[in-house]
Amino acid sequence: MFQIKRNRILRTTPSLRALVAETTLTPNDFIVPLFIDEGEGQEVEIPSMPNYYRRSLDKTVREVEALWSIGIKSVLLFIKCTDDRKDNLGTEALNPNGLMQRSIRAIKAAVPGMIVMTDVALDPYSTYGHDGIVENGEIVNDPTVEVLANMSLSHAQAGADIVAPSDMMDGRIGAIRKTLEENGFTKTGILAYSAKYASCFYGPFRDALDSAPGFGDKKTYQMDYANRREAIKETLMDVEEGADIVMVKPAMAYLDIIREVRDAVTVPVSAYHVSGEYSMIKAAARMGWLNEDKAILESLCSIKRAGADLIATYFAKDAVKLLNA
Ligand code: PBG
Repeated sequence: MFQIKRNRILRTTPSLRALVAETTLTPNDFIVPLFIDEGEGQEVEIPSMPNYYRRSLDKTVREVEALWSIGIKSVLLFIKCTDDRKDNLGTEALNPNGLMQRSIRAIKAAVPGMIVMTDVALDPYSTYGHDGIVENGEIVNDPTVEVLANMSLSHAQAGADIVAPSDMMDGRIGAIRKTLEENGFTKTGILAYSAKYASCFYGPFRDALDSAPGFGDKKTYQMDYANRREAIKETLMDVEEGADIVMVKPAMAYLDIIREVRDAVTVPVSAYHVSGEYSMIKAAARMGWLNEDKAILESLCSIKRAGADLIATYFAKDAVKLLNA
């Protein structure tokens, strides 16, 4: 048989395949979410996230050092607020000596090169577990934006490199930028969760932080998964308002959105491979139904191929180990 083109030639050996690979993962691609709790010497495995932990600050600092030593450049901090400090207004979020602020300072002191990103949203601090202030059973936008801007300022003052609002209130990126500018924080970045969908895949995360909504759901502020154009609209608005990096969340069921967002903007695009996506792979691997290592690399590579420049993932450490193996 005569054939001019034989596509299999470039698939012949591992070396050839590596030579022509269009997408490669590196430790620079990853943002590592960290769950921080009060106390000392504590490391608690999250039941719905096997082999992922919520740690006290001292243990978190050791973990950040370990991440830095394998080439990871950024962490995204989430804190678990104690019940007695929760209220409707997220007052604790502005405490200069709150767990978040102390964590930022301790991590930057221990590993100055590590990029510290911080979650900006009310849910961990809210008695209602919602991302905004509740009035008459509704999540009110503009008063929440004011708190988010002050929260971002407080994180910047503690030394955060990048604040990451994950709340989906309207106008928060512009308000945060304005507040940072007015207070001289001209080097603090904003990673905007721009296309964040109301997703069942956040379930294990809410276990980790005890932050499940006390009533209703998050559909009046997070996006409807039926929508595609709306993701572009949200993202373009965030860029306009001053976002340095935008995000699509979740990742695996939203690869089309990642691609469209990548094509629509010039800023870096990140994707959040969320808790439920982590747990699904873990569960299937535990049952012996999936090869965990292969599932991790295929998932992360697919997210990058779709157009993500950065991936927030609970698998970052595993992936770096696998890439070096
Ligand atoms: C809260 C927040 C959530 C996640 C990140 N920030 C949960 C939610 O919106 O309810 C989810 C992350 C994950 O599932 O891994 N603002």
